[in-house]
Amino acid sequence: MTDSCFCCQKPLEAGHRYHPRCLSRLFGGRLLPSIPFGRAEMPALVARAQGRMSISGVQMKLSARLDKGTGRLESAAAGGTHILKPEPERFPFIPRNENLCMNMAEEAGFPVPPHGLFAMADKSLCYVVKRFDRTDDGTKIQKETMFQILGATEKYAGSLEMVGKAIRSHVANVGLDTIDFFERVLFCFLTGNGDMHLKNWALLYHGKDLSLAPCYDLVCSRVYIPNEDDSALTVNGKKNKLTRADFSALADSLGIDPKASANSFDKLRLAQEKLREMASSSELPFGLRQKLSHIIKTRYERLYGKDAA
Ligand SMILES: Nc1ncnc2c1ncn2[C@@H]1O[C@H](COP(=O)(O)OP(=O)(O)OP(=O)(O)O)[C@@H](O)[C@H]1O
Ligand SMILES: [Mg+2]
Repeated sequence: MTDSCFCCQKPLEAGHRYHPRCLSRLFGGRLLPSIPFGRAEMPALVARAQGRMSISGVQMKLSARLDKGTGRLESAAAGGTHILKPEPERFPFIPRNENLCMNMAEEAGFPVPPHGLFAMADKSLCYVVKRFDRTDDGTKIQKETMFQILGATEKYAGSLEMVGKAIRSHVANVGLDTIDFFERVLFCFLTGNGDMHLKNWALLYHGKDLSLAPCYDLVCSRVYIPNEDDSALTVNGKKNKLTRADFSALADSLGIDPKASANSFDKLRLAQEKLREMASSSELPFGLRQKLSHIIKTRYERLYGKDAA
C-alpha cells in the first residue's frame, strides 16, 4: 500500500503524507508546519496585512513566514517567504487544482517553485508556495509582472504576442526564455488554463539581468467555467477556437524557427500520458478528476489530432 505526497503527488509509504525532501525544499527543514488559523480568520489577517502586503489579485491569499521556534506558518505583513492560498467558496478544491497543475508543469519540464497542500486550523487544505521573489534570508528579488512592464490597465486586454515580444526585449537569455514561454503557452492550452492574464506572467531581476519568472497561478480554470475562452489573452488575434496553426503563428511572430517550434509541439505531446495519469490520480474529488482528464484529452486532440494518444 502506498499513499501520495501532498506536495509532489508521487508515491510514499502508506500512512505518510509528505516526503521529507519535499518539506525541506519548501520550508528548509523536515518538520511539518502547522497553520494556526482557518479560512474564517483569513479576511481579518489579510486586512491586517494590507497596506504593506505586495501580493495583489482577486483570490484571497496571504504572504506568510515559518516561525522556526513554534513550527507555525504565520501571516507576515513584511518579510514573507511563502504565499498561502485557501479554498475559496466560489471555486471548490482550487488549492488541489493549483497543486496538481504546478506538479504537471514540473513534470513537463518547466521551472516551478516548491509548493504543496497543507491543512489549516479548520482542516481545509490550502495551497502553499515558496516565494521566488525572496531569497532564503527574506531579501527581496525584484519582480515585475507583464501588467507592470506593458503599463497595462486591464489584465485581460492584450495578446500573447505582446507578452512574448516584451519577454524578448528584456531578458538576458532570449532564446531560452522565448522557447520556455512558448511551451508554457502550449501547456496552458493543453491543461484547460484560460486564466493566464497579464499578471500571471512575470520577469525577475538577477542583478541587472532579467529572466522569465518561474510558473505560478497555474490552474485548470475550465473545470469551473465550461464555456471559458481558450486563452485569457489573444493568440493570432483570437481568444477562442484556437488551433495548432494559431500557436504556430505565435511561434513565427516570436522568431522561433519552424524546427524549434516543431520540437516544442513534440515535447508537449510526449507529456500527454503522464499528465493524464497525474490528473486522474490527483487529490481532486472524482467528478473534478474526470472533468480535468476529459479536458486534457480533448485539448490534445485539438492540437495533435484524434490519434494524439
Ligand atoms: N511563488 C511566487 N513567488 C513570488 N510571487 C508570486 C508567487 N506566486 C504568485 N506571486 C505573485 O503574487 C501575485 C498573485 O498570485 P496569484 O496569481 O497566484 O494569485 P491569484 O489570486 O490567483 O491571482 P489572480 O486571480 O489575479 O490571477 C501574482 O501576480 C504574482 O506576482
Ligand atoms: Mg494570478
